[in-house]
Amino acid sequence: MQNIANKVVIITGASSSIGEATALKLAAEGAKLVLGARREDKLKAIAAHIKAGGGEAVYRVTDVTRPEDSAALETANWNAMIDVNIKGVLHGVAAVLPDFTAQKSGHIITTSSVAD
Ligand SMILES: NC(=O)c1ccc[n+]([C@@H]2O[C@H](COP(=O)([O-])OP(=O)(O)OC[C@H]3O[C@@H](n4cnc5c(N)ncnc54)[C@H](OP(=O)(O)O)[C@@H]3O)[C@@H](O)[C@H]2O)c1
Repeated sequence: MQNIANKVVIITGASSSIGEATALKLAAEGAKLVLGARREDKLKAIAAHIKAGGGEAVYRVTDVTRPEDSAALETANWNAMIDVNIKGVLHGVAAVLPDFTAQKSGHIITTSSVAD
């Protein structure tokens, strides 16, 4: 397994479940975490927990469905699911790709599903 120590890792959906568990695991291995999701209270608590354990973490409130944003919230459930699980992933790819290209390295790991 690749040594993750001191690597910057951006995790969306970091406020609970798989994202939170991944953040805690990678922080324990020395990664520098950037945590994103909509619930600031959760992100704040997770970042504080990581820092209390000697790790590094910052957070930023992030809605992966933006920039399309709130108009999509009025559409049917399946539409919201596509926005979060597919477009949301693509927004993350688009956000980091220029840096990854410039530094000639970087990994994107996604866990997603459109099954409900
Ligand atoms: N758990 C499983 O067994 C399993 C299996 C296969 C696939 N998956 C897929 O893996 C992904 C994560 O699963 P999970 O069990 O960890 O799900 P979860 O408990 O529902 O967590 C989803 C995370 O995504 C964040 N999120 C939701 N909408 C968002 C938005 N618009 N912008 C930014 N963040 C958003 C939530 O945080 P906020 O609410 O704070 O934004 C939360 O942190 C999902 O796509 C799920 O379908 C899960």
